[in-house]
Order: sequence, then C-alpha cells, then structure tokens
Amino acid sequence: MAQVPSWAKDPNAKIPKLYKSLMEKHADLLPAIREDRVSVVELEKLMSISNYAAATLKRAILSRNSKSRKPAQDPNENFNVTSRGPVALPSLRSWDREAEILPSGLSWESKEEPSVKDLIDRRTAVFNDLHRRKEANKVTRIDVKMHGPIAITHLGDPHVDADGCNWPELIKTIETISKTEGMYAGNIGDTTNNWVGSLKRLYAHQSTTYDEGVRLAEWLLTSVPYVYVILGNHDGWNEGGSLIRQILKNSSVATCTAGCARIELHFPKGDPIRIMARHDFKGSSTWNRAHGPMKAAKLDPWADIYVSGHKHHWVSHMHEGMDGKPKWAMTVRGYKWHDSFAEEHGFYEHEHGASCTTILDPTAKPTERVKLVWDIEEAADLLKFYRKRAGYN
Ligand SMILES: [Fe+2]
Ligand SMILES: [Fe+2]
Repeated sequence: MAQVPSWAKDPNAKIPKLYKSLMEKHADLLPAIREDRVSVVELEKLMSISNYAAATLKRAILSRNSKSRKPAQDPNENFNVTSRGPVALPSLRSWDREAEILPSGLSWESKEEPSVKDLIDRRTAVFNDLHRRKEANKVTRIDVKMHGPIAITHLGDPHVDADGCNWPELIKTIETISKTEGMYAGNIGDTTNNWVGSLKRLYAHQSTTYDEGVRLAEWLLTSVPYVYVILGNHDGWNEGGSLIRQILKNSSVATCTAGCARIELHFPKGDPIRIMARHDFKGSSTWNRAHGPMKAAKLDPWADIYVSGHKHHWVSHMHEGMDGKPKWAMTVRGYKWHDSFAEEHGFYEHEHGASCTTILDPTAKPTERVKLVWDIEEAADLLKFYRKRAGYN
C-alpha cells in the first residue's frame, strides 16, 4: 500500500504543482474521484501514473471534498460484507518509482530490470519443470532380469568409521551377499559418522580419521550390487550427500535418495513387489518399536515392504492391509555397537538385527511372496533352497 504524504491528508495544505497539473489534465475524472467511485488501481491506469501518485492524488482530492466523507463507521462493518465483485490485479510495474511524479524535485532514470510478468513467467517455468521431474521420479522401476526368487539384504546404519562399528558382522554380511546368487543389498543410511559443527569434537574420541572413513565408505558402497542407498542424517551433514553420490558413480545402485525410496521391482513372471525405504519413518512408541514403518504402511499402503533404520534397534511387524495384501514393516538395528550416546541416555543396546533379508518370490502365494529372515547366513541358505526348488540353481 502506498504511503501518501501528510500534505495530501491535510485539506488546508498547498497542493504541489505536479499534482495540480494532473488534476487539470484529468478534470473529467474529478467528479468520479470525489464520489469515491474510482479505485487507486483504476486511477493508476487511467492517468498512466504510479500507484504512489494515484494514492496521493486520490487522498488529496477526497480530503478536500467534505461531501464525499462518510460518517464514522462501525469497525466491524467490513465483516458484514456478503458479496464482492471482481478486482483488477495490480499492474506489472518496475521496482523503481517513476521519477517524474515524485514531489521531492529529484529526477533519475529507472534501472533496467525484468518486468514482474517476466519474473512470474520464469517462476512458472521453474515450478512446472520441478513438478514434472518430482512426479516422474517418485517411483524407481527396477526390472529384475533373472528368473526365480531373489533376496534383498537391508543393511542397517553402517557408521563404518565408528570404533563401535561391528566390522566382523558387516564383513560376514557383505561376503555372504557377494557370493550368493540372486542376493542384493540395500543401505538404510548413516554410512559414516561424518560429524558436523560442535559434534566434530567427537573425532577426538574415535580412532578413524575423516579420510579413512571416506575410504571405508567407498569400499562398502562398491562391494556388492545395491538396490537402494539412503542418505541418513549423518550423510546429509557437511558435503556428505554429494560425496556418497560421487562414490556411487563407480557402483551398481538403482536409486539413491535422502528421502523416501519407492521401489517397484518387476520380474519376468508374477506381479511387481514394492518397497518403501527411508532412514526413519515418522512416529515412535516405547511399546511398539515398529510404530514408524507400521504407521506408514497404514497411511500409505502402496508398498509390500516398509523398512527403516536410524533408531539403532530392530523389530518387524506384519499385517494385512486394506488392499488385501500383506505388509511388512521393519526397522534394522545397524552396525554401531557400544554407542556412547545410547549408554549416556540409558537406551539398552540390541544385540541382534544389524540387517534383515527379504526373500522375494513374485510367483508365490500372497502370504509367501515376501519372507523375512534376520540372520544373513540363514537367509542365504533359504534363498538357495527356494531358487533350487523353483528350478534355478
Ligand atoms: Fe545411525
Ligand atoms: Fe540416523
């Protein structure tokens, strides 16, 4: 809203020459202005002047026209409006006010700049492109070329540079995936500690340097084929996300995201199997550790499998969704043992469930299309058995 000068509100003040000449030039409009039938925006257009000048001129005319003054109104009167007509949109003016109508006596050239219309057009194009890409990338479709059951081992938070990273368990998991036909990995995030800000002091309390952590992360992320890699909260600190994406250029990974990976696996036979993986699903409960992924499965029953990490505990839950399909909801514990944060805050550490493996058989009965196994070696043996039984060795 333009701020009109004090002289325009004072009916006894002298009207500057500039505004007097405007009144003379547009004398035919004065009756309508006095009766308050012309809005500031309309005046702006009719006289080809700025919003500021139009508001000033209108106020000056009204203040000198006692007939147009309305009696004091009830302050709540505006709330009684029952209908309103269309209003004109503001004209697309440049940032600088037009110098010739300023009452200060100064004059300058307006700077060249894009018009508001150009700005709106540009913002519209940026939004349309962003929206199209977001919609197109929402679901990652993966075509599984091999026949028979396959398995995905969901690795919990690795924290590979933590002194408490359970490398014996991690090595066993990776070696088992690498030598088992049809077995793939998924990484639920927090690949390294990647301390940030005041937490950087914690590097003094671990024996692995930042650089060594990056090398360990590269080894892990390029060791076996990954269906997905999630960027956890630790990965998002500093430039961790970009670093991991660079490392993944040399790896086999179908999708990498800091948000929710929606994966649709298509097989040579049978219906697709869908996975929703994210570092952490919103919601927690002391009495139901599967609350987060369960809640996601109830509110968004798109997937067959909901898997997350972050909280460093393990749990699984299964129920039939409203679409008649079994829903698996799991949280994997990860590999960070002897966590000082957990010790200081009184969380008891879980001893199992660093990863879990889902064996996927798209041709099986609805209740058997997904089988959940917590021990990696047991999962590998079961996958071999199911593949052999289906006629694939
Ligand atoms: Fe973590
Ligand atoms: Fe985390």
